[in-house]
Amino acid sequence: MSICFDPNEKIFYLNTPNTSYVMGIYCGKLLLHLYYGKKIDRFVNFIDYLPVAVDLPFSPIDIEETNASSNLLPMEYPCYGNVDFRTPAFHAEYENGSTLTRFEYVGHEIAKGKKKLNGLPATYVDEDNEADTLYITLRDELTGIEAILSYTAYNKIDAIAKSVKIQNAGNQNISIKSVLSSTTYLFDKEFEFVHLEGSWARERNIQKKSLMNGIMQIDSKRVSSSHTHSPFLALARPWATEIQGEVYGFSLVYSGNHIEQVEVSEYDVARINVGINPFGFNWILAPKEEFQAPEVVLTYSNEGFGKMSRTYHELYRSRLCRGKYRDIERPVLINNWEATYFDFNEEKILNIAKKAKDVGVELMVLDDGWFGKRNSDNCSLGDWVADRNKLPNGIESLATKITELGMKFGLWFEPEMISEDSELYRIHPDWCIHVEGRKRNPARNQLVLDLSRKDVRDYIVDSVSNILKAAPISYVKWDYNRNISDIGSEGLPVERQQELPHRYVLGIYEILERITTAFPDVLFEGCSGGGGRFDAGMIHYYPQYWTSDNSDAIERLYIQHGTSMVMPVSTMGAHVSAIPNHQVGRSTPLKMRGNVAMSGQFGYELDLNTLDDDELELVKQQITDYKKIREVIHHGNMYRLKSPFEGRNTVWEYIYKDKVVLMYFTMFTRSQLGKIQVKLQGLEDSVQYVETLSGRTYSGSYLMNVGLYFDNNKEFNSEILVFEKKQ
Ligand code: DGJ
Repeated sequence: MSICFDPNEKIFYLNTPNTSYVMGIYCGKLLLHLYYGKKIDRFVNFIDYLPVAVDLPFSPIDIEETNASSNLLPMEYPCYGNVDFRTPAFHAEYENGSTLTRFEYVGHEIAKGKKKLNGLPATYVDEDNEADTLYITLRDELTGIEAILSYTAYNKIDAIAKSVKIQNAGNQNISIKSVLSSTTYLFDKEFEFVHLEGSWARERNIQKKSLMNGIMQIDSKRVSSSHTHSPFLALARPWATEIQGEVYGFSLVYSGNHIEQVEVSEYDVARINVGINPFGFNWILAPKEEFQAPEVVLTYSNEGFGKMSRTYHELYRSRLCRGKYRDIERPVLINNWEATYFDFNEEKILNIAKKAKDVGVELMVLDDGWFGKRNSDNCSLGDWVADRNKLPNGIESLATKITELGMKFGLWFEPEMISEDSELYRIHPDWCIHVEGRKRNPARNQLVLDLSRKDVRDYIVDSVSNILKAAPISYVKWDYNRNISDIGSEGLPVERQQELPHRYVLGIYEILERITTAFPDVLFEGCSGGGGRFDAGMIHYYPQYWTSDNSDAIERLYIQHGTSMVMPVSTMGAHVSAIPNHQVGRSTPLKMRGNVAMSGQFGYELDLNTLDDDELELVKQQITDYKKIREVIHHGNMYRLKSPFEGRNTVWEYIYKDKVVLMYFTMFTRSQLGKIQVKLQGLEDSVQYVETLSGRTYSGSYLMNVGLYFDNNKEFNSEILVFEKKQ
């Protein structure tokens, strides 16, 4: 068992291979967070927290037995209502107008395996012996409200998955104003707040800032996890690097409004709160009802950011992503978006497909513009019927012709949206999110369907399913091109309007669950103007995601590097596009564009008919090369050897079974820089590795200590080296 309870000391121990998470029951009633970090055997100093907890001015006493104050104690699930003045995890209003709650420990249970979270994505186990789960019940005696805290410790992965369920075992309606998923503590403040900020086409830049007393937080109020702040936070020692130093990771498995907050108290204790953003949130919970808050996955590494990311990659690749495509290699695809935009017909698409088939592409994806009368982005979303002007014989005919070429066929949808100029809007103007009497604010000329409504959810499931049933479609790109404003629903009563943001997220999860279950053979790729909703919640449904609308190779080095802080490379869609690049106007060599895209689910996003013979030959070679390494990219352990955020080069390494793939890129150069040394990581010292192109053999210790040298004098230089263990 990776979880145990010491009944004498009243301490819970959750152990993963290298970490321990420890909690204790204080005075028989308060659940305290005692420790999270490198594995320990036994917690001795439970009582030593007391000097911090008592006798400090302006911290009123609320634990009479010991004269302690909950304002000073590391409350594991803090609620507003003790004398704790820090930001609570739980805050609710009762029928008498009071907002005080006092959660006290009433019991616990330890079980093998991990249960599903009702209606929400979450990590899982394939076998019960992969993890143990602890359920702790806290109760507010006066109202009967209970919080069930759940903690899963994985036996072979250094991850703890936490979540919270609120049960109304009382006899009154309550209004939940805040229900966070995780509170933890660090007992000094010498950490940096590390997060991933971005925008459309500039996703997931790594930012770091030292903690200070007071509150630091990132969040989203867009009803989407968003391009702006990923639902992820790391707290890292200022001296932490890719290979050394303490790093704590907090990754929220949720796709809506989120908050990641650190509050450093006047006594330099850092409280870390993660969960649904309380801003704009209110949830009415009637007697006997329960509310499930989303999961947060915690990991601790004392080997820097590299180990933290590899833990997330392993867990998310194998126990968050699901379905047939979780473990199998994905097809090399070609997508027509940047090749044609809205200007295509059946012949044009077939010509792109034929050329692609010749060079080894396996899947042709038809992007936006195939339905309604959509010749620009100003109409037809919601009308999922083929445009007979472009496709006279419909999707079925095109999909069949592509399939007959020996390729698979994929199709783009944006099912959550509605254009004001659409048949759907003319029939159901009330189906979009809006407030009656106020202007409906379009973004990219579109409004958002109200997924809190069952009739709307059923419409989406039916209209997408009808198309998937009617044609041989083996891939879907599910797009989502705006964030949600104008919060209001005609389907919800007045007192539940603030439930809309979370109900929207539950709605999209339900839709995706229904569709992905009904079409288990279809590969789903998520997209939100590129990587706008690329979060841990979404990859439970889509095993891959279009990482960014920015397809420039240099920009992609930053974006894919930042994304890899949490997301496995197996989830990142990456394509070769035309030059000059459509987003930034840069021209990078085809070789570099190919090499960058090979660090992901590989594809092309241009019309191959515009390439000359030499370029086509190179494309053919790239596809052949990728097919040889794709299992390493998909399943491999990733080592980030050089960061684009810290210099002129990016170097990534992947190890899987007997193969090592090393990817080297010079982004920018200055004259006379000569060569640059690259030391590999994660190899076995005394094993010999053969570099397959030159046939040269190196020992693991040589590659990790002496390293290899790459030409740093040429802008946009890039190399991919493959090593195989010598038998
Ligand atoms: C945004 C996506 O990210 C693009 O790849 C493309 O699918 C367009 N939407 C289509 O409208």
